Amino acid sequence: MLQTQSDLSLQHYADLIRKGEVVAFPTETVYGLGADAWNSDAVAKIFQLKGRPQDNPLIVHVNSLEMAASFLSDFSEDARRLMEHFWPGPLAFILPKRPEVLDIVTAGLPTVALRMPDHPIPLHIITQTGPIAAPSANTSGRPSPTRPEHVRQDFGDELPVIEGGRCLYGIESTVLDLTQKPYTILRPGHIRQSELEQILLQPIKMNHSACDEKIISTISSTSPRSPGMKYTHYAPDARVRWMKREELAMAEKRDPHTLYLQHGTFYGEEELKESGNIIHYRSNYLEMARDLYDRFRMADRNNYAEIAIRPFDEEEESTAALRNRISKAITR
Ligand code: TXA
Ligand code: MG
Repeated sequence: MLQTQSDLSLQHYADLIRKGEVVAFPTETVYGLGADAWNSDAVAKIFQLKGRPQDNPLIVHVNSLEMAASFLSDFSEDARRLMEHFWPGPLAFILPKRPEVLDIVTAGLPTVALRMPDHPIPLHIITQTGPIAAPSANTSGRPSPTRPEHVRQDFGDELPVIEGGRCLYGIESTVLDLTQKPYTILRPGHIRQSELEQILLQPIKMNHSACDEKIISTISSTSPRSPGMKYTHYAPDARVRWMKREELAMAEKRDPHTLYLQHGTFYGEEELKESGNIIHYRSNYLEMARDLYDRFRMADRNNYAEIAIRPFDEEEESTAALRNRISKAITR
């Protein structure tokens, strides 16, 4: 539970949101840029600040199943079972919305994205403000912020930011579309496909196009299932690419102007040698995900021309979200 002291300072931010201001806040995934989900002028400020296209809808953050229900025209048993199991947590659901839900929040879609974050700060703030519409707190196209200083890098010191240190997961929530069967993962995240299937006892589809920006650009002229998929994301200024075989095996093939992100078991002797431009996560993919966007931003500040990442085993479920974010950064 939060202490009385921080309750008092959080009250200040809750008041700002109630007055229609925009406030950045931590979650267990990434920092969010929040406004009152029932105030269209306040939500419009989010789009303006981020430079976000109007056709890319926002996630509404709630702190109870009752609050979630207030947005929905149909609250299925499957949705309820998943929420009871995974919330609060890094999982957003796409569900049919009530007509009164603001069009600016859902970009005019008949559906709404809902998530209950597993973090005491937003859970507490929402008790004061009601539901908060929030995208990630980066300017459009930049990597999502995983530390409060990332938010300030993108928006300057004027924007109110609630400090919450480094985010636990470091990549955005799993987005699950429950509006048609088979249910579909539109964005992979910390909560995995198999975990969802174990609870629902039915197959869930992974939208592979979400992992491949080239396919996205060809389908985006039609009607993308998740509008955010058609936009480039997560990209630093440095060029992101996969490591080459010879770079993995031989140190002399490596470029001092490239930041290398390595993981997994060793490929060659030289991989053992960590140095300033070689980071090794071993098999700690949780740490790699937590660190990824921070490294992207650090690479830019340290003027690296490239970020080279060791390729992954395509079958491995524990790296699906990492592969998705890196692929998007590569093909921007
Ligand atoms: O972890 C997270 O989800 C973070 C934290 C702040 O909660 N938020 C976040 O929001 O990543 P954002 O806006 O960066 O990503 C939301 C994604 C976008 O790709 C958007 O297109 C999609 O969810 N989305 C939102 N509403 C949708 C809807 N009704 N139908 C389909 N996709 C939707
Ligand atoms: Mg985002």
